[in-house]
Parts: sequence; C-alpha cells; structure tokens
Amino acid sequence: MRHCMSPMDFTVEELDRMMDLASDIEKNPDRYSHVCDGKKIATLFYEPSTRTRLSFETAMLNLGGKVIGFSSASSSSASKGESVADTIRVISCFADIAAIRHPKEGAPYVASVHSTIPVINAGDGGHQHPTQTLTDLTTIRSIKGRLDGLTIGLCGDLKFGRTVHSLISALVRYPGIRFILISPEELRIPDYVREDVLKKNNVPFEEVIRLEDAMPQLDVLYMTRVQRERFFNEEDYVRMKDFYILDAEKMKLAKEDCTILHPLPRVNEISVDVDNDPRACYFRQVQYGVYIRMALIMALLDIPEGKPFLGDDFQKGGMNHEV
Ligand code: NCD
Repeated sequence: MRHCMSPMDFTVEELDRMMDLASDIEKNPDRYSHVCDGKKIATLFYEPSTRTRLSFETAMLNLGGKVIGFSSASSSSASKGESVADTIRVISCFADIAAIRHPKEGAPYVASVHSTIPVINAGDGGHQHPTQTLTDLTTIRSIKGRLDGLTIGLCGDLKFGRTVHSLISALVRYPGIRFILISPEELRIPDYVREDVLKKNNVPFEEVIRLEDAMPQLDVLYMTRVQRERFFNEEDYVRMKDFYILDAEKMKLAKEDCTILHPLPRVNEISVDVDNDPRACYFRQVQYGVYIRMALIMALLDIPEGKPFLGDDFQKGGMNHEV
C-alpha cells in the first residue's frame, strides 16, 4: 500500500503517468465517472481549507465514490483528546482512503504508520503540501508544455509556505530549472531547503528582495500569501503582509508568456486588476487540482482504469511508507 506524504514519494516517471492520466480525465471525464463506485474518501481536516478539502471531495464524487469527514478539529474527537493514531485506526474501518490536513508537521505521517488505508498529506503545518504540488506541476506542464528548462520565481512567505517547500523539492528533479526566490529577509526559505534540496542537487538559484528585479526573467511566477497563522506575533504579520503586491503595473515587467500561479487563498498579494490578464492562471490551477487528485486517488486505490496510464511498475517506484 502506498501513501502520499511528499511529492518525492513518486518517481518522475510516476508523476508523468499521473499527469497523463489527469489529462485524459480532463478530456474524457465520462470514462472515469464510475471507477470508484462503492469507494469512500475520508477528509480529516484539523485546519481550515476551502480548495483542498472540496477538491478532494469533488474528485471522489467525480469518480463515482462517496465522501465522509470533518472540516475542523473542534468538530472531531481531537477536541476530546483523541490522538491522530487512534483516529486513523477508526477511519480505516469506515473509508477506503483518507486525506489529512493538520497544523503539526509530520501528523499525516504518523497517521500513515497506523493506517490500513492509503493516507494523503493534505498539508502538515509549514512542512509539505504534496497535492498542491501535483496541482502546480500539472498546471505548469499543461500551460508550458514542459517542466524542464524554466526559470521559476517564488514570491512571498517562503519560510512558512508549505506549498513552496513541496514545489521546490519536486522541481529540482527536472533539468534546466532555475529558481529566483523573492522574499523579505525575515521570510527567506528555511535552511534545510536551501542546503539539502537546492545546493545538494546543484540547482541554480538566487535570493532577492525586489519582485521588480526578478520579474523580466521569469517563465513562471508563483505568488504566495503571508502565512498569518504561523507567526508568533501579530505585529510581525502586519509588517510583512503587504510586502508584495502584484498589480497590473508590475505585470508590464513580465514576459508576454509568463504564467502567474498562486495556490490560493489570495489576500492582498495579487491585486484583482491582474485577474483578467491572460497570464493569470491561478483559477485554472484550481481546476487542474481536481483532475490530478482524481488521478492520485485512482493510483493509490489501484483502480484498474488507471493502469494503462500508470504502468505496471507503479507499485515499485518511489518511497514506500508501508509498515
Ligand atoms: C495553501 C495551504 O493550505 O498551504 N492553500 C491551499 O491548499 N491551496 C496555501 C495557503 O494557505 O496560503
């Protein structure tokens, strides 16, 4: 049994096959509308979410399956003191697959160790968010036609932004990727990402403060929100929150085919006057998130209709969290 804790759990070939499957789902949704008949996904969300939870639920409903779950810790037995390990043992009796979001780094991994069903990390604290990364990769590949040879700007809260950490670790495996990391001094990427992911893989990167300086070089600009909930005090957040605002004026500095992405939710970092720019792709990104989550659910549940796209060796590659 495979779980999905990080994008690195899958080989580049597996990710490619999953994205091919997502693209077939996009073109032929009817072919997949019953492949999960009789299956259930449990969405266990201990932290707020709109897109990720509803996108998992939509994905399962689109596949013909059903959905159970909770959307806040306060409405679950966590509020009575139940551990994640016990909760997943219980959920394993109810559902076929689970997606877990938790404020503590590593909580979904703990769940996977105690689970008898596949577990998907739907975001763990400031650590990882693999299904957002699958969404981001699918979006970039669909729009740019490739995942190699791109200059990618990541802008905003690179310290606490888990989507950024996951995306960097996934992209370093593609040749010709160069990063420009745009953040205020206080919100630079964590040392472990700089040392263990970027430097270790000899990936070229620059760290800059001014978005305007990076803008003309970028093939993709990935904007992020300042992660208010992970700050120790409100004053620091208030000082940082409007550090970057991408507006129509700054878009004049971007390449004609620069792709603007954002995992959403957006606060002020992208002005609404950018939304109608054809380079703004953050709402299309949400749609790709449903297709790739459908593909992921099929892959983890070993649904036969996924086989032609995933290949026979799907179970062999990647990191296995089986215990
Ligand atoms: C992201 C998250 O939860 O990390 N949201 C999402 O899942 N699309 C980004 C964010 O909250 O800023």
